[in-house]
Amino acid sequence: MNDSLKHLQRKSTPARALTEPAPDDEQLQHILQAAMSAPDHGRLYPYRFITIRGDARYRLSELFGRAVLQRDPDVDEIYLQKQKDKPLRSPLIVVVVASPIRSEKIPEIEQILCAGAAAHNILLASNALGYGSIWLTGANAYDPMVCRELGLADSERIIGFIYIGTPQLEIPPRQLPDVRDYIGSWE
Ligand SMILES: Cc1cc2nc3c(=O)[nH]c(=O)nc-3n(C[C@H](O)[C@H](O)[C@H](O)COP(=O)(O)O)c2cc1C
Repeated sequence: MNDSLKHLQRKSTPARALTEPAPDDEQLQHILQAAMSAPDHGRLYPYRFITIRGDARYRLSELFGRAVLQRDPDVDEIYLQKQKDKPLRSPLIVVVVASPIRSEKIPEIEQILCAGAAAHNILLASNALGYGSIWLTGANAYDPMVCRELGLADSERIIGFIYIGTPQLEIPPRQLPDVRDYIGSWE
C-alpha cells in the first residue's frame, strides 16, 4: 500500500482485548470531533453520541440482561450471561445514534449513511491515537427497550456500540481481497 495511505489501514480489536486505559475525556472529545467531519448532505449532523464508561457499563450490562429476558424468558443461562458480559469487556463504549431529521431534500438513507461515516471516523481517530476499537451491534442494538432506556426518540436508531480501549493483542494486518476484483469500468 502507498505509504501515505498507511494510516487508513484500520483494523478492529476484539472487545475482550481492549483494556484500560481508555481515551481520557479530552482525547475522546477529539475523537468525536473528528467523527463530525463525516460527509454530510445538507450539514444536518444527523447523529449523536452516548458515552458509557466506568460503573455505567454495569447499568448497560443489567439493561442487556433485561432486554434478553424480555425477548426470550426461557433463554439459557449461558447466553444470558454472555450478553450481560458484553459491556464489561472494554473500558469505554460510544453508542452511535442516528438521528435522522425530517427533510424534503435529504432522504433518510443518506442521513443513516452519514451517521455510519461518523462511526467509521471514530474507529479511525481512536486507532490514530493508539487505541483499539471495534464496531458492534447485535440484537440489543435493535431492541426497543434498550433504545428507550438509553433515551432514544422513536425516530432514532442505534447504529453501533463502539468499544474502545488499549489493545492487549497485536492484531495482524487484515488480508483484504484484491480490489481489482471489485472494480469494473463503464464503457
Ligand atoms: C454496522 C456494523 C455492525 C457490526 N456488528 C458486529 C457484531 O455485532 N458482531 C461482530 O462480530 N462484528 C460486527 N461488525 C464487524 C466488526 O466491526 C469488524 O469489522 C469485524 O470484526 C472485522 O474486523 P476488521 O474491522 O478488523 O476487519 C459490525 C460492523 C458493522 C459495520
